[in-house]
Amino acid sequence: MSASESGLVEASKRYLMNNYGPPLAAFVSGSGCVLVDEDGREVLDFLSGIAVCSLGHCHPAVTAAISEQAGRLVHTSNFFANEHAPDVARRIEELLGLGEGRVFFGNSGAEANEAAIKLARRFGGEKRRRILALEGGFHGRTMGALSATGQPSKQRPFEPLVPGFAHLRPGDIGALEAEIAKGDVAAVMLEMVQGEAGVVPVPDEFVLAARELTAAGGALLIVDEVQTGFGRTGQWFAFQRLGIVPDMVTLAKAIASGFPVGALFARAEVAAAFQPGDHGTTYGGQALAMAAAKATIDALIELDAPSTARAKGERLRAAVERVPGVAGVRGSGLLLGVMLEQPLARETQAAALDEGLIINAIGDSVVRLAPPLVVSDQEIELAASMLGRALARARIASEGEA
Ligand SMILES: Cc1ncc(COP(=O)(O)O)c(C=O)c1O
Repeated sequence: MSASESGLVEASKRYLMNNYGPPLAAFVSGSGCVLVDEDGREVLDFLSGIAVCSLGHCHPAVTAAISEQAGRLVHTSNFFANEHAPDVARRIEELLGLGEGRVFFGNSGAEANEAAIKLARRFGGEKRRRILALEGGFHGRTMGALSATGQPSKQRPFEPLVPGFAHLRPGDIGALEAEIAKGDVAAVMLEMVQGEAGVVPVPDEFVLAARELTAAGGALLIVDEVQTGFGRTGQWFAFQRLGIVPDMVTLAKAIASGFPVGALFARAEVAAAFQPGDHGTTYGGQALAMAAAKATIDALIELDAPSTARAKGERLRAAVERVPGVAGVRGSGLLLGVMLEQPLARETQAAALDEGLIINAIGDSVVRLAPPLVVSDQEIELAASMLGRALARARIASEGEA
């Protein structure tokens, strides 16, 4: 029996591991902000594959670039150069505006962070091995990235973790100062907005202090822009709002419209610590992935992704703030955390899908919205009204149960 004959959700449950929980639906095509499920029903996507499909689904320029490259040359290995990887790296360097650097390409956000952790230790030498990260932070699920992730519930089942990681409370500048003063810190790793913690911005003063203290104390600053990068928060990269200069920036998600790509940018002086043989991955930076990334970045530049995210984000925020049952909205641009008056996030997510809207519950009381940047004003208003209906249904169902 083929997967479609048995129903894609049921077939997935039978053959795939249950690490994500059962699939909520199955989609077979998409265009812009709209996905089409296996029964032909259209759904408005306000999650973008978790902040990945910023150009919407199947953007014509990205589809064309992938198709053309797939018919010409897919993969040759990193023994050889290809025609797109330097172009993508140059675009990243220009958009970051951190001066001359070097890029390592991998296949995911976790891999970008693994590379950053290894480079920080390589640069730090024998004496500087420790990595400081933040409570609530999320950096991925591989062992190094998981060790940097500041969420014990995700870590505990997999202990022992990689040694040499410590977590600070975002905002605790005193603790940061004390840790860096020990002289053994290779790097501080943080997100500007903790997406997986419920779209929680890290306090500006803390980020500014982290930059000052690491620079003064001989440690590096790594900013994880995997979720916030490429315009989503209203800047090309969220750190740019504060005008700081990180030593490394990690990227993934929106970089290639869903083609699996992760990237680590490091200032040239730091990047020089990696010697041939120190790090690698078979697929990283291959021609097909880089064709997808180049077309994506060019289309994001054409769209002026940051100002688009700012304008659409303001509109979405205003529309959602009016919805009964919403206690507030945090985050910036088109990465928003909607705080609910009642702990009904999961019920609201389910009811929204039923209404025809994809949103994402994080914890009990927060719903994440991260629509494609190409979302129309009309789609924003439609989503807000569907969210309102979903919240009302969730509330009525919970009152019925009580
Ligand atoms: C900030 C941040 N870093 C790293 C990751 C891990 O990326 P990936 O799932 O591509 O490994 C994520 C994924 O959600 C993320 O949000």
